Amino acid sequence: MYDPEKYAAVADNFVYVHRALRRDLARIIGGGEALFASDFPRFARILEKHSELEDTLFFPPLEERAPGSTGASVDQHRQIETLVETLAGGHSTDIGSDLATLQELLLTHLDGEEKQIMPAMMEHFEAAEIWALDGRIMEFCSPEFMQEMMPWWFTHIDEADRVCVAQNMIAGVPSAFLPVLCQWISAGLDPTKWNDLVGQVPALSATA
Ligand SMILES: [Fe+2]
Ligand SMILES: [Fe+2]
Repeated sequence: MYDPEKYAAVADNFVYVHRALRRDLARIIGGGEALFASDFPRFARILEKHSELEDTLFFPPLEERAPGSTGASVDQHRQIETLVETLAGGHSTDIGSDLATLQELLLTHLDGEEKQIMPAMMEHFEAAEIWALDGRIMEFCSPEFMQEMMPWWFTHIDEADRVCVAQNMIAGVPSAFLPVLCQWISAGLDPTKWNDLVGQVPALSATA
């Protein structure tokens, strides 16, 4: 079993964002051309930032402690990025088939990170070290990006996951950022879902 403190520290990036990425891509694939046109660009921006955070923030320190552990993931990022750019740039000649290929690559990739990278992070880092890395995410993200990402994230995970992510946010995000994060999340969720979430994580109401 995983150390629960370490698991909480890695779960946002390696479990809950991954779930939202899987769910959103499946939704876009099932939604036809109109949904692809309206929603794929956002999916592409969020996936690109997620990969960038792994490549620049999380993987280099892991690679230092566990040489060779991140190479396959980094290569997959390049492969996925190329396909996403083709799709997002309007250069795909067969969107349906390219999306299916993307889904196949992405599912294998996310699975690999969950089975290899996430346990390696927990093996080679203390929970406090992982939280310290997590706390630097905002250095890499513009306010515009966060404003798009936060409601997207909370919309594309289920209620139990929303509670876990909100609890991690309360514990791990610098308190100065909390009010605006809560505003963005509440703006993206319908009022019932937001109220349910605040009911389970009351600390949210103090900041929203
Ligand atoms: Fe990932
Ligand atoms: Fe990745």
